[in-house]
Amino acid sequence: MAISISLTVNGAPISASIEANTLLVQFLRDQLRLTGTHIGCDTAQCGACTVHLNGRAIKSCNILAVQAEGAEVTTIEGLAKDGALHPMQAAFKHCHGLQCGFCTPGMVMSAIALVQRHPELTGDDVRAELDGNLCRCTGYHNIVKAVLEGAAGMKSSGTAHAGASATAQATA
Ligand code: FES
Ligand code: FES
Repeated sequence: MAISISLTVNGAPISASIEANTLLVQFLRDQLRLTGTHIGCDTAQCGACTVHLNGRAIKSCNILAVQAEGAEVTTIEGLAKDGALHPMQAAFKHCHGLQCGFCTPGMVMSAIALVQRHPELTGDDVRAELDGNLCRCTGYHNIVKAVLEGAAGMKSSGTAHAGASATAQATA
């Protein structure tokens, strides 16, 4: 059965007709072609599909698209502005916080939400709090470094506080 939904994705209003059983990740990837959100497990284990729903990091393979009715969704594609990476993206690049890159969009989205609710992070906090994001390349050391550097960048750009929109981050 087809259902109509309306939501905001990366700052743009979207209205669409979808099958009732469409997962949010399927809607983003297959219908909106936002393929930066990855599917690693499809069973809420790996975090590759993490996006922001009303500012909270969620696993988009774990909810139906209809549950996002009226919500504000941000994907990895919504972070960079005018060619400038979000501070967390820049930190992953600078710290070599990725190898194959498959887990990276989910890591970045989870890390941003983590910093926004917990700006004063230690490396142990990062390891504990990002345990729902798995890296098959096991490059966790540089990922932790990147999240700490990204947290510092978010603080200096004013995007580290709770409620700061991921899509309204500084472009400096
Ligand atoms: Fe959603 Fe793995 S694809 S948690
Ligand atoms: Fe390859 Fe994490 S960089 S899965």
